[in-house]
Order: sequence, then structure tokens, then C-alpha cells
Amino acid sequence: MSKKRILSGMRPTGKLHIGHLVGALENWVELQDKYENYHLIADYHVLTTDLKTDSVYENTIHMLIDWLAAGLDPVKSPMFRQSQIKEHTELFLIFTMLITSARLERNPTVKDQVRDLHIENITFGHLGYPVLQAADILLYRGNAVPVGEDQVPHIEIAREIGRRFNNVYDEVFPEPEPMLTKFARLPGLDGSAKMSKSLNNTILLADDSETVNQKLRKAVTDPLKVRKNDPGRPEVCLVFTYHKKFNPELVDEIEKGCRSGELGCVECKLKCAEGINNYLDPIREKRNYYEQNISEVKEILLDGEKRAKKEAEETMHLVREKMKLG
Ligand code: TRP
Repeated sequence: MSKKRILSGMRPTGKLHIGHLVGALENWVELQDKYENYHLIADYHVLTTDLKTDSVYENTIHMLIDWLAAGLDPVKSPMFRQSQIKEHTELFLIFTMLITSARLERNPTVKDQVRDLHIENITFGHLGYPVLQAADILLYRGNAVPVGEDQVPHIEIAREIGRRFNNVYDEVFPEPEPMLTKFARLPGLDGSAKMSKSLNNTILLADDSETVNQKLRKAVTDPLKVRKNDPGRPEVCLVFTYHKKFNPELVDEIEKGCRSGELGCVECKLKCAEGINNYLDPIREKRNYYEQNISEVKEILLDGEKRAKKEAEETMHLVREKMKLG
């Protein structure tokens, strides 16, 4: 039996942070042997929230370096930009006819974005965000999509569109399943629920160890633990969440020390930074290699695009045949 296919994607936001690592990349790496993986860089999707495109290419390269450093294997899995494979936009166009605008207006993820970014008048393209995403997935006839909770409504729309195409024309598309990532999101250094570039509360894969130490020093902790010997509450402390991920063997000791007050935040944070640094060291080493060999990174992208293009052409050939568009 041939392997099932996974389509995973990210918008090129530049250098990635440890939230991306824990919430997505590690999962992708784990899946790469069991499935046939396609890794999409959603550079057209950037336009939905930012028309300035001058840094998209640079951000793409930074992100790709982090993908490779985290352990994604470009030989096993093609990595490619949406904008370089015209079939994405072709399939998108056909798909726009298979879903109503009322359905798209009900999408909670787009609604949240409109609220958070204070968008007064949404563009046609932004409303159609999940339609392009459906094309991304179904162009490669993906069976599953590893995503976080917020993306599930988009995947549901992709399933509906695929089903509708299959009903109107003929069976072409599978129904892609969302594959929820195991780990919850990492909180940000400021205590926000989410680590995010726009909140400026991240630890980057590219940060050196001194930067990580400094960032940790400023991290928000339990507000009731003001000084050493005050008892702390690990369950409300983001540093403790990091320990669980990056210092699993110290967790019990740290929990006890925090609750009793014996362990102060300064020392706890130093230990945390050390755990993160040890974890990131091998990734940093690979990052350095790729940063010094940018031409290799660019070749990886071009090779991935060639392979993805071939698959995309096959699907579009089939789509046109079923639609009798000759
Ligand atoms: N919407 C995804 C995000 O914001 C990015 C994305 C675009 C994507 N196309 C995709 C994810 C296809 C999975 C599959 O993160």
C-alpha cells in the first residue's frame, strides 16, 4: 500500500521561534517517515494581511533554514512556494465557484482575524483565504493536514469543497483530515497564551545562548512569588511550562522547590535557559551550516518546486479531464 499523503504549510513569517518548533515542526519531522509529505510555503497567503511583499522572499529563506535545521529532510519531502506553482491559483479559481460567500463569512478563524487586526472591510481574497488553502491541500490530494486548533475550520471548508467537486464532476479528491498537534502552544515570555512575533515575546531558533539567558531573565513568573522563599505556583508560571518541555528530568525537583519557596525564580530561570540552550544547540549548528550555504538552501527550494509542480500538473490534468475542459 502506498503511503498516505500529508500537506503541511506555513506562512513565511521569517525566523521561527520555539513555539513553531514545539507546536508544528517537531511533529512534521516525526511524520516524515510514515507519510509522504509536502511542505508548502504559503507566500500568496501573506497578501491577505499585508500587501507589502518586499521581504517575503527573504522571510521564506529564513523560514526554510529553520525547517531544515529542525530536521525536515528535503530529499524525502519537497518544500515549495505556493507562488511558483501556477496550478494553485487555477484550482483556487475553480474552487471559488463551489462554495458560497455566506459559508466563508461564517468561518470563525477569519472572523477572529478580522477582529484582532481591526479590519474594517475585508477583501475578497482574504475572505477566500480558506479556498486557497483548500487548493493547497487538494492539489496534492493530501489525506491529512497537521494543524493547530485554529486551522480546523479551514480544513472543514477544504473537505466541503472537495466533496462538492467530487459530486458535481467525478471522484478526484480525498477528504483531508486535520491532524491536531499533540503539544499545546507554548506561552510567550510575557505570559500571553501564545508565543508570537507580533507580540514580541518569542525565543527564536536563531537566538544565541546569551540572548536566551537574557530573555528568560525578563520572563514573567507567578506574580505572588516576589522573592526567594515565597512559595510559588508552577501551574501559573510560563517558565514551568518551558521546563516541562525542555527539562523533563528536572520537573519534579523544580516543582517541589518552587512550591516550598526554596527555589528562587532567578535560579529557576537559569536552569530553564540552560535546558533550552542544550535543546537548541544541535539546531543552531545546522542553522549555521545553512546560513553559510545559502545557495544550497535555494537549490533545495527549486528542487522541491520541480517535484511539487509535477504532482500539481497531474492533478490539474485530471481536474480538467473530469470537467471536460479538454
Ligand atoms: N493557514 C495556515 C496558517 O496560517 C497556512 C497554510 C496555507 C496552510 N496553506 C496551507 C496550512 C495548507 C496547511 C495546509 O498557518
